[in-house]
Amino acid sequence: MSLDKTYKKVPGTTIFDAEQSAKGYHLNQFCMSLMTAANRERYLADERAYLQEWPLTDAQRQALLDRDLNAAMAEGGNIYFLSKWGATLGLSFQQMAGSMTGMSEEDYRDMMLHGGRSIEGNRIADQVREAHYAAEGAQRPAEHAWVTGAVFTSHVPAIGAAWDQHRREEPYWKAVFDGYEVSKQWERENLPDVVFLVYNDHATAFDLTVIPTFVLGTGASYPAADEGYGPRPVPGIEGDPDLAAHIAHSLIREDFDLTLVNEMAVDHGLTVPLSLMFGDVERWPVKVIPFHVNVVQYPVPSGERCFRLGQALRRAIESYDRPLRVQVWGTGGMSHQLQGPRAGLINEEWDNRWLDALVRDPADLARVPHLEYVEEAGSEGIELVMWFIARGALADVDGSGTVEVKHRFYHVPASNTAVGHLILENHPRAEAPAGKE
Ligand code: DHB
Ligand code: FE
Repeated sequence: MSLDKTYKKVPGTTIFDAEQSAKGYHLNQFCMSLMTAANRERYLADERAYLQEWPLTDAQRQALLDRDLNAAMAEGGNIYFLSKWGATLGLSFQQMAGSMTGMSEEDYRDMMLHGGRSIEGNRIADQVREAHYAAEGAQRPAEHAWVTGAVFTSHVPAIGAAWDQHRREEPYWKAVFDGYEVSKQWERENLPDVVFLVYNDHATAFDLTVIPTFVLGTGASYPAADEGYGPRPVPGIEGDPDLAAHIAHSLIREDFDLTLVNEMAVDHGLTVPLSLMFGDVERWPVKVIPFHVNVVQYPVPSGERCFRLGQALRRAIESYDRPLRVQVWGTGGMSHQLQGPRAGLINEEWDNRWLDALVRDPADLARVPHLEYVEEAGSEGIELVMWFIARGALADVDGSGTVEVKHRFYHVPASNTAVGHLILENHPRAEAPAGKE
C-alpha cells in the first residue's frame, strides 16, 4: 500500500500536510507570534531584526521581505498562519489571496464579483493524473518497515524513582527489577530502530485546556517532564518525525482522528518503560514515537477502538518505504486504584486471566467494557485498554503470521500497582506483508 498524495497534483494549489508542516514549522510559529499587539509593533518597527529572532531559512525570510505569499507557501507556510502576518501589514484576506494569482487587486476583486474563478481548466489534467499513478506504481517499495514485536508493561512512577535513586538492590525493588532482566537481554538481541510507545499522559503535557483522545508525537525530540519531583535524570527522547508523519497520514486516512503534537514533555508513562527495557544508558538506543491515549477523563476510548487502531498501525508501518524494525509498546496497568477508600485494590486472578486472554484471544478480550476494568481492576486499571494498540499491531490478528511469547512476568506490588509485563515476538510469514498491497 502506498499513500495517496494525488492532492499534490491539483493545479495552483498547495495542500498543507505533515510534510509541509514540518518544512514550515518555524515560519508558521513566527506568524503566530504576531497575535499580540506588542509583537506586531516590534515587527513593524524593525522587520529584519525581528525575523532574525526566528530560525527561518533564507528562502523563508526572503519570501516575507518580498511580500511573496506563493514563495512563503512553497517554503511550508500555511495561509491561516500567514494571515496573521498579512493582518499585521494591514492586508485583507482578499488582498492576500489575490496577490498569489498574478492578477491586479482590482481585477481579482472584479473576478470575484463576477462569480469567482471558473472550475473549467482548473482540474487535474488527465495526463498529469495518469503520469502520477504510473510513477507511484513504479516506486512502490520492495523494502518496508516491519513490526518486530510488542512489549507490554506497567509504568509506575515509583519504579522510575527507585531506579534513579539506585535503590535497585533493596528487596522490595529487586523483586520488580529482576522481572526485567530477561527483557533487557531480549532488547539487546532484538534492538529495533524505532519504538512506537503507547502511554497515557498523566495530567502532565495535557491539562484541562485540551483533552485529546489520541495524540501522535510528530516532533524531533521530547524532554522528560517535571511532574513535581523534578525531571527524571534520563536522556532526552529522540523522535522520528518522518515515520510519524507517514503514520499520521495513514491512520487519519483510515478514519482515526488523531491529534498531532510536535512539542510536548513526556512523563513517567513513557520514560519508566524505557528504563525498564534499556536500563542505564547515555542515550536511548532507539528513536521513540510517543502515542498518548486519554484514560484520565471519561469518556475514554474502548478496548475495541484501540485494537482496531493497532491493526491500522501495522498497515501504516508496513507501508513505510524504509526497512526499519519497529516495536510497539503498550504501557500502564495492571490492576491499581490510586483514589478513594478503595485505593490499593489488586485483583491478581483477574489480571492473570486477562494476560492469558491477551495472548490467546485479544479480539474477544477487547470487547470487555470499561465498567469491568474499573470494578475488577480498580479505577486506574483502565490504563490496560492501551495494551490493545500494541496487541492489534501483531501479525496473528489478521492471520498473516504468528506470535511467540518471549517473556511473562507478574508481581505485586510496585507502589499501589500490580506489575504486569509481557513480550510478544512477531513472526509475519515472509511473503505476507510484501505481497499485501
Ligand atoms: C502509580 C501507578 C501508575 O500507573 C501511575 O500512573 C501513577 C502512580 C502507583 O502505583 O503509585
Ligand atoms: Fe499510569
